[in-house]
Amino acid sequence: MDQKPPSPPGTRRRNVAVILAGGVGARMGLDIPKQFVPIAGRTSLEHTVELFQHCGLVDEMIVMMAPGYIPRAEELLLGSKPGANADAKAANKFSKLAGILPGGADRSETSRLALAAIADKDANVIFHDAVRPLLDGDIIIACIRALDVYAAVDTAIPSADTIIEVDDENFIRAVPPRAKLRRGQTPQAFRMPVIAEAYERAGQDPGFSATDDCSVVLKYCPDVPIFVVDGDEANIKITQPIDIHLADKLFQLKHKTMLPGGNRAGLRGSTVLVFGASSGIGLELVQQLEAEGALVVGQSRTGNGTYVEDRQCVAQALASAAATHGHLDHVILTAGVLSVGPLAQLTDEQLHHDVDVNLTAAFIVAQESQKYLAESKGSLTLFASSSYTRGRANYTVYSATKAAIVNLTQALADEWSSDGIRVNCISPSRTATPMRTRAFGAEEEGSLLPAAAVAGASIQVLASAMTGQVVDVRLPYTDPSKDSELVALP
Ligand code: CTP
Repeated sequence: MDQKPPSPPGTRRRNVAVILAGGVGARMGLDIPKQFVPIAGRTSLEHTVELFQHCGLVDEMIVMMAPGYIPRAEELLLGSKPGANADAKAANKFSKLAGILPGGADRSETSRLALAAIADKDANVIFHDAVRPLLDGDIIIACIRALDVYAAVDTAIPSADTIIEVDDENFIRAVPPRAKLRRGQTPQAFRMPVIAEAYERAGQDPGFSATDDCSVVLKYCPDVPIFVVDGDEANIKITQPIDIHLADKLFQLKHKTMLPGGNRAGLRGSTVLVFGASSGIGLELVQQLEAEGALVVGQSRTGNGTYVEDRQCVAQALASAAATHGHLDHVILTAGVLSVGPLAQLTDEQLHHDVDVNLTAAFIVAQESQKYLAESKGSLTLFASSSYTRGRANYTVYSATKAAIVNLTQALADEWSSDGIRVNCISPSRTATPMRTRAFGAEEEGSLLPAAAVAGASIQVLASAMTGQVVDVRLPYTDPSKDSELVALP
């Protein structure tokens, strides 16, 4: 795999990441291995590989894949789907990925096969589970830095639960003091000579079994100290069905959203149609996108009589933008209405109007945009609201329709991934817009997000490669153009 000769003395050791994806995820009970389950728009495998691709200290990666699933992994990671277009290939390109190899019958066998495939016998080897996609990049760096001093490094977190040891009949045998207990995660990092020696000795032990790599060093090279780097509660291992929901939520709450591909300059010359462009976030989007050099068409009810809940209006607006500019790269729907008050007091007319504008319009815009976006491999951006997470009294229709937008985003991103269309939604907390002022009157200064900030975060999403994501934008707000990693703080 790694054809480089051993590093000469005094030079930095190469850091080779091994992404362990050789399991089938029996506990998840799906008909595909859990590393292929989409979470926040991409498979866990892709998220994980991307983390190591973006870590400046990692030189090379190997993915160890469950035999039989290598073609699927190649399709995802190398864009090698028959007929995949050039953009899709470029978006999927992981330049550090040196190979996708078959894993073994159990995790230890997979680790052993990976070690055998690494030719540089002086390298540092960093093992990570493909099913821990929420790893913070700082932990990878901490593990690699620790290898400057130690030959073996684990990642672990304290246990909030008391851990008990039981016997075969399920009776307690011991309750080790909790303060000394840790829950092991990955990465686990090693200097090659140590981990190779440990596995060599393990290979001679007929009773060998292990569920991780540090325990192999602990048992077979007991003189080697294993340093423990602080892990992270969010670095969960997707194991049981509930973990998919937790991971989805954790991605949404992540402080650092994954926007490394957010290159605003790429928007120059692209055609963007904004529905709901006359005020608030929509108006800000038009102005900021024009400043980026995009060709923007703004449509609104008050500006040009475009009713987003009216299919004919929507179809006409799309056709005319595509005819004027020859193509349509991005469609954004910001239009929304907010009727405040007890559900019982909403008139039938209000109820239908709010559902139509907040939800039905999104279906219509999506349906009518598909052919244009499939041609341009473009994106659709919808708007949810922080109220989607929990329905609120007196906001029933708004909360419910915004929650539906989140599911629509996830479903459509999945459905349209084969067309190469990205779909995301922005979920801003309370934002200073005319819609909000109409509903609530004047509010305390500083308690609302500026519409310009929400537009800025949305443009960052537009310029990224992400899909299927619900991007929270909250106070306090950090300008994403000043720090490409920090979009919003919870
Ligand atoms: N793994 C591996 N090779 C194996 C078994 C597991 O590379 N033969 C990897 C998994 O793909 C996963 C990590 O080790 O990324 C952690 O293992 P675990 O959560 O136990 O995964 P599975 O074996 O896939 O799950 P299960 O035990 O539910 O079948």
